[in-house]
Amino acid sequence: MTNPSLLECSKEQQLQIGRILFKLNQLSFNCAFQRLEEGPILRTFFFIPALDALFSKVINREEEVAGALSVESARLYRVAGLLAVEVPRIDRQLIRFDSCLHNMLTSEATKDMSLPLLMGQNPKGNYLYADLAVQPHLLIAGATGSGKSIATSQLICSMALMRPPSELEFILVDTKNLDLVLFKGLEHVSAVITDINKLRDQLQELLKEHDRRAALMTGISRNIKEWNALQSGWPYRALQSLKYKVLIIDELADVFERDAAERAGFDKDQKAAFPAISALLKRIAQVSRATGIHIICATQRPSVGMITGDAKVKFGDIKANFPARFCFKLPTMADSRVVLDENGAELLLGKGDYLYKVAGVDNVQRAHSAFVSMDDIALILSQHKEIRGMYV
Ligand SMILES: Nc1ncnc2c1ncn2[C@@H]1O[C@H](COP(=O)(O)OP(=O)(O)OP(=O)(O)O)[C@@H](O)[C@H]1O
Ligand SMILES: [Mg+2]
Repeated sequence: MTNPSLLECSKEQQLQIGRILFKLNQLSFNCAFQRLEEGPILRTFFFIPALDALFSKVINREEEVAGALSVESARLYRVAGLLAVEVPRIDRQLIRFDSCLHNMLTSEATKDMSLPLLMGQNPKGNYLYADLAVQPHLLIAGATGSGKSIATSQLICSMALMRPPSELEFILVDTKNLDLVLFKGLEHVSAVITDINKLRDQLQELLKEHDRRAALMTGISRNIKEWNALQSGWPYRALQSLKYKVLIIDELADVFERDAAERAGFDKDQKAAFPAISALLKRIAQVSRATGIHIICATQRPSVGMITGDAKVKFGDIKANFPARFCFKLPTMADSRVVLDENGAELLLGKGDYLYKVAGVDNVQRAHSAFVSMDDIALILSQHKEIRGMYV
């Protein structure tokens, strides 16, 4: 909802505008209210600064603005010459996954995407999508309970709805044996891995599959999309089409710790024969975009130096290969900077509220993931084909 003028705002909204203006004035930032936008979770107020107003006077004063409004947190940022003040709605709404289904299956935005990811809604309440094939790998970070697993379910459900099992395969890694195992019965899932050595074998298999695909495509097509498009025309009709493969890891730090413990018992020859999981993941992330192999991994502890069998893996080594990042609430500004290179994740509201960076979008943006219930998962497991069929 967008309110163009103060007069159209409710009494409660007008009260908040008055309190923000008073606080900004106290901070020596003179400005005038311009407009208000409201989505399911947030209310965003926009202010036009006076000619002599300095943004540096207010940009790090979030706590004081939140205090003036008696809300849990506020986020202040500069946009198109305006000051934006984002505050949580008292009557926060749930973004239900089932209410996203229709939009996802009919939206123009998802039409040309190879692997459409439903990202939930932006602060205005508009649906957001990204194409995993373009990203090409995604890192999800956030403290415990911030919403990583629900968001991962949202991504799995959206891809499973939009692509049939003949075009897409999931390999799920859940060393905690908790959240991803729920998708065991999904037709697209070829493996649910809970054991670290099986994961190592799987990653080595994926690298071999990458080499096989790359050799197959050489001189014929530049990527999997072009390769699969060739199937319809002579003389390539006999070629086998290739499935997208998406590897999803629920807790990366746990995987690295278990790998370190496992490899501590390896001798020199074993270490050479069975490389560290971090090295294999890094290799796949570096090479596999064109051949249709993609990675989504989540972690609770981005700032901890992740330990592998051989060395401390700096988080920077991992994140360099994951240009797309979803960052849910983190404890401190420093954690936020580790993931996004910016502050802000420490001010999030939890429960699916996140900041993201994706290819094609310049700045860090805010979004809210949809809530995927057990019923939604059961529906996708049993009815994905029928639901997709209704729209094709
Ligand atoms: N999009 C959402 N909308 C509403 N509530 C949510 C949403 N996402 C998460 N929650 C709430 O937060 C709880 C924790 O979410 P989730 O299990 O995804 O956290 P997590 O980050 O995976 O935690 P952990 O690191 O401990 O596994 C959920 O059980 C749910 O109650
Ligand atoms: Mg989780």
